[in-house]
Amino acid sequence: MNVTEEIKNRLDIVDIVSETVSLRKSGRSYAGFCPFHLNTRTPAFYVFPETQTWRCFGACAEGGDLFSFVMKKEGWEFHEALQYLARRAGVTLESQQPADKVRQAAEQRLTELLAAAADYYHMLLLYAPEAEEARRYVQERQLTQETLETFRIGFALDGWDRCRTHFNEQGYSDDDLLAAGLLTQNEEKGTRYDRFRNRLMIPIRNVDGRVVGFGARTLEKEGIPKYLNSPQTALFNKSHLLYGLDLARRHIREARQVVIVEGYMDVMQGWQQGYRNMVAQMGTALTEPQLQLLKRFTKRFVLALDADAAGAKATLRGVQVARETLDHKLEVRFDARGLVRHEARLQADIRVVTLPPGNDPDKLLRTQPETWPQLLAAAQPVVAYVIQVLTRDMDKGDAKAKTTVARQVIPLIKEISDPVERDHYWQQLARALGTDERSLRQVRLLDPPRPQRPPVGAPLAESVSGRATIGQPPPEPEMPAWSGEMQWVSQPRVRPSPQPTRQSNFLRQCLAYPQVVRAINQRLHRLEQPVVSAADFTLPEDRAIWMRIMQIVIEGRFVSDADLCDSLDEDYLQSRVQGLRAITPVPAASRDKLPDTLVLSVLQWRQDQLKALSLELTQLVQGGESQLDAETLKFYQARANELRVQKLQIDRAIASMSAMQQRREERPAGLRR
Ligand code: UTP
Ligand code: MN
Repeated sequence: MNVTEEIKNRLDIVDIVSETVSLRKSGRSYAGFCPFHLNTRTPAFYVFPETQTWRCFGACAEGGDLFSFVMKKEGWEFHEALQYLARRAGVTLESQQPADKVRQAAEQRLTELLAAAADYYHMLLLYAPEAEEARRYVQERQLTQETLETFRIGFALDGWDRCRTHFNEQGYSDDDLLAAGLLTQNEEKGTRYDRFRNRLMIPIRNVDGRVVGFGARTLEKEGIPKYLNSPQTALFNKSHLLYGLDLARRHIREARQVVIVEGYMDVMQGWQQGYRNMVAQMGTALTEPQLQLLKRFTKRFVLALDADAAGAKATLRGVQVARETLDHKLEVRFDARGLVRHEARLQADIRVVTLPPGNDPDKLLRTQPETWPQLLAAAQPVVAYVIQVLTRDMDKGDAKAKTTVARQVIPLIKEISDPVERDHYWQQLARALGTDERSLRQVRLLDPPRPQRPPVGAPLAESVSGRATIGQPPPEPEMPAWSGEMQWVSQPRVRPSPQPTRQSNFLRQCLAYPQVVRAINQRLHRLEQPVVSAADFTLPEDRAIWMRIMQIVIEGRFVSDADLCDSLDEDYLQSRVQGLRAITPVPAASRDKLPDTLVLSVLQWRQDQLKALSLELTQLVQGGESQLDAETLKFYQARANELRVQKLQIDRAIASMSAMQQRREERPAGLRR
């Protein structure tokens, strides 16, 4: 029995779901209002104790097991859900590789030290006589006691080895402290001393709430640097972190959008005022890893830029020469072109708003909190924002100024992947400049446009043919010509596994040839069927594996089969990946037919899933007929009808696929004629 099975055996899905959803027994199942969509009239959410599964028969039409419930509820990835549920089930997750164990032990020690350091600084802020000034400072900044607790704000004593001595006494070596970024080493003299001295300490936690570093504010008026941050360590990488995300994640999901601000204080003030879906990018431009992280909770991002970043305006206006003389910091913080690219790649909605001059969110929320929601509501899509900022006080009579603006905006427009959207901005820019689109399209750009990015969706096309380096496919066993029917053989080394299911085989082939994913999704799209998503897979491990494959496909990073499998080295996936690798990839000669075959396979298993769903629904109605009111019954009947329609659509898709395949097979004969 593998770990996930063990966990599922020990826990009862009804218990876990009941913690957040109020369930009522209804026949052999339990019913409640769906926690994943607005559902208040008819309970659409069901838990089935016998199969230990859940299902929403309403708008989200999703279902799954204990793992998928916890993942969806918390916005976790599989490994997070695994850790959580393992802990609850009292199952220990054994690390399989010795090297992993060593690394994990080191990280564990580092994590403990950082957590202890946060506590140490926090206690000092609350109680140390020497922290009097720091306490006055936080009061001046209007941070409440509760906020100080929630964010575990602290104080570092003034001195070269106060922290060092404290933790040496606790059994941590200087090397430990150095690795945690709490000590600094003077490279020339070889001396080591406390990195943080006489500063307000702000622990930075990762998305799981573990302390990974600190931002430390000077208490002096013009102290430099204003914030001293932890150095890059095994755990601390600023471009992969967002301040406040551990607390905000729930609220981001609830609010269906995240507000991204610049600083620590902005997040804390927002939290205090009840705006809790806020995170801080900590003074740098948003990175793709940060957006990827956020994307787990929402795809709507609102950037609230400090007014000085409307120096974004200056930055944007900057003709080459001017650009160099501008405050570099601002340029770094607002990278419009980067954002448009991220937007395409992540299929996200990124909007921008600037605060009134002289304000940052911290100040605005303290002085005019009522304006905050209005401000956010006025956020604009990135390109619209840039057009507005640049043309706001442009002299429409100044031909040169117009060209300058056009040259700034056109490269952004060209980054947009969606043709309709792109067109929209050509028009908008033409209007804003009082010119016509045709002349606009002829503007000569100063910088040569960068190579077109592979956008997402259709875009994978470019990434396959373009930048992607395709790894050597693994050596393949001699096999008879592939007939188009699914074929696989177990490798002799591995114990013979049962016939792989459709889903296993599908994943196996995608692992071997990630390029095929794009073709599959294109075909599904053409058949008006949803593209393959994690929810298509039954096993939680498979969902995790699928998401990894997609990530690689979207990034256009095609690695070899072996590399890909190695990158799936998390313990919990290892045995599954090994199992999948026992299935033989189709030989190169038959690869042409692979997309069609796999599309059919998806359609067929979706068909099976629909059948199972219909059956569940029927049983529900029959089992609870006496208790169900007329409205509920009507609701189920409507659902049942929808399922029938879906099934018909899949039938049609399958039929047209088969017809297509047949035509293709007949074609060579036709040509011979
Ligand atoms: P700001 O300079 O806008 O600071 O930097 P702030 O957040 O308004 O801070 P207060 O209100 O003056 O205390 C925005 C963010 O940029 C990062 C920090 O994360 C800061 O919150 N930053 C800024 C640094 O990392 N180092 C610095 O020296 C300055
Ligand atoms: Mn500030």
